[in-house]
Amino acid sequence: MDGGIAAVALGGAGLLAGSLTATFGRTKKTTAAGPSPVPAASTGGGAAGGAKVSVAASAVPVGGSAQVKDPASGDAVYIVQPKAGQYCGLSSVCTHSGCAVDAPKDGQLYCPCHGSRFDAATGAVINGPATKPLPRYSVTKNGDKLDLGPLQS
Ligand code: FES
Repeated sequence: MDGGIAAVALGGAGLLAGSLTATFGRTKKTTAAGPSPVPAASTGGGAAGGAKVSVAASAVPVGGSAQVKDPASGDAVYIVQPKAGQYCGLSSVCTHSGCAVDAPKDGQLYCPCHGSRFDAATGAVINGPATKPLPRYSVTKNGDKLDLGPLQS
């Protein structure tokens, strides 16, 4: 009799785990392989074709930024141009406790949760409590578009 109860309990746990896996699997698939990479996030209204996430280069002036989504993680990424012709992507996920940092302003990204500040050119920590830089993505200029590349750090 005890064995029967244990078997039922295990079966239930198995079903639960299976359903969670299916849920997460489905969610990930949808974000990773969505039909159009960046819907409204293409701030400049660039025609994003293919599987790449891109924005119009005109949407990212020197000192400015445009927000896109990392198709792999779903995290928001700021594409920035700290100096003319120099582009990179910075994760918007604060390395302290995971809050969303504000868009770059005056050369810095500010986290409203606990006040960390990051360099908008490199992602380096300017002010704690965060101790690790924001993850960086490569960005390639492709004609009049900026393509989000892979995570570098
Ligand atoms: Fe950003 Fe704490 S989560 S400073």
